[in-house]
Amino acid sequence: MMSTERPKPIRKAIFPVAGLGTRFLPATKAIPKEMLPLVDKPLIEHAVDEARAAGIEEFIFVTSRGKTALEDHFDVNFELNATLEARGKQEQLDLVKRTEMPSNRMFYTRQKVPLGLGHAVWCARQIVGDEPVAVVLPDDVVLHQTPCLAQMVEAYNQIGGNIVAVLDVPRENTSKYGILDISSDNGKLVEVKGLVEKPKPDEAPSNVAIYGRYILQPQVFDHLSSHRRGAGGEIQLTDAIAAMIGEVPVHGFRFEGRRFDCGDKAGFITANLAFALQRPELVEQIRSVMKEYS
Ligand code: UTP
Repeated sequence: MMSTERPKPIRKAIFPVAGLGTRFLPATKAIPKEMLPLVDKPLIEHAVDEARAAGIEEFIFVTSRGKTALEDHFDVNFELNATLEARGKQEQLDLVKRTEMPSNRMFYTRQKVPLGLGHAVWCARQIVGDEPVAVVLPDDVVLHQTPCLAQMVEAYNQIGGNIVAVLDVPRENTSKYGILDISSDNGKLVEVKGLVEKPKPDEAPSNVAIYGRYILQPQVFDHLSSHRRGAGGEIQLTDAIAAMIGEVPVHGFRFEGRRFDCGDKAGFITANLAFALQRPELVEQIRSVMKEYS
């Protein structure tokens, strides 16, 4: 279904970062999972850069206790800047300066209890207001020349509505994802007639899975406000999007690029290798180490 009106632009993005990151304990005991680095840049900075590249102007973090390092990362560290400047470390100073975000662009709210991704998104409702919003999960990482969210915004400008990033997964893995019930599929765009969170393989309506990028219309907050519990007893974003089918068009978008699940140890290590191989100063060393261990 195509929308006739020009879709409202996407200016804001929510970064739900209130999870406990239990799969990375003890590393995540005192630092947020989103501060773990891909090579030398924390996951959250990759996510913010991706959003910037997609034209996002306002960045909304849904945090929790123990996540102040995330706020500090995008603040000014005068002492560090002064030291780098005094030592003539211009290159490093430039890298640090890139992380200093204007205060009228960054917004923080807290999810007091980790009741699920849907609940985390709902916590940002007042900051978002009555406009469409992107949701970016920082531990779902995509490597491509055109970042995943920019690809989605381009599609959104044509079709509007709700768009979820999707990928085809092996059927035995459907219980890890939100899964699409498909009414039509042109390869790139998948029209959705239903969504199921974490179905068992034999109950899954397809093997097309939601990956951590969303563009959502503000009505999603009305659906989330019912606080209905879904799979795993959590308030699921997938359920709120499913409830919007018929109200607004809902499409899956098969993005281009290699994806990494950085919420998982093997995925995170693989992503580090893949990102290091993109770096001219590291590529040879990493290749030879990889050979040594293969
Ligand atoms: P995950 O399922 O990866 O959970 O959440 P987690 O707590 O981060 O990590 P593990 O599974 O314990 O290792 C997916 C995303 O949703 C956010 C997380 O921060 C992550 O970005 N989330 C999840 C919240 O913000 N609040 C929640 O209640 C649940």
